[in-house]
Amino acid sequence: MTTTPLRLAVIVGSVREGRFGPVVASWIAAQAARDAGFEIDVIDLAEAEIPLALPAVPPAMEPNPPRPAGMRDLSERLGAADAFIIVTPDYNRSFPASLKAAIDWHFTQWQGKAIAFVGYSGASGGLLAIEQLRQVFNELDAHTVREYVSFPRYYLLFGEDGQLHAPEEPEAQAQAMLGRLRWWAEALTAARAVAA
Ligand SMILES: Cc1cc2nc3c(=O)[nH]c(=O)nc-3n(C[C@H](O)[C@H](O)[C@H](O)COP(=O)(O)O)c2cc1C
Repeated sequence: MTTTPLRLAVIVGSVREGRFGPVVASWIAAQAARDAGFEIDVIDLAEAEIPLALPAVPPAMEPNPPRPAGMRDLSERLGAADAFIIVTPDYNRSFPASLKAAIDWHFTQWQGKAIAFVGYSGASGGLLAIEQLRQVFNELDAHTVREYVSFPRYYLLFGEDGQLHAPEEPEAQAQAMLGRLRWWAEALTAARAVAA
């Protein structure tokens, strides 16, 4: 058990106008706030400047490439996090390009950290995006947590007020996921401290 709270970044992966992502991010942030051991930072990718044109040298080789001024806040907050929850829809059976660009602009900010997922969309509930993200984060030398939360046909599950009609089951899934995320984040935070 750590004495300092783990810094948990909840990332809103979609950036389109009228998106639903912030509602799901608020919900999982509230679930995480039930555990006083998490210090929560909700990161909205729509607020960052994330060009599709990547730096000349990959961040895996050059951890501090020249980045746009509008990305500085994002890079610092990713770097400060001990663990992540990525909130993602399915876009054409994958995850949004905004998320891929944010991932690809960074490397050490993800490396050796624990990552969990909350998905939502039509029939597939974000699961297709989540499965692909697991592959991507493997290359980033990050650990993805087995447990997840998925909202298929989310528009039937959430009310106009952003609250779930039947919260019990998703809340139980969230707490199970958060428990494992905490376990991995504590282990990896300790391991990173030894390696540093
Ligand atoms: C470009 C695009 C592709 C989509 N592809 C899928 C899909 O493959 N499977 C699915 O279930 N829903 C799909 N949807 C529906 C989205 O999951 C749904 O619109 C969701 O609200 C998107 O998240 P957002 O509102 O945060 O942008 C797609 C939506 C968009 C905009």
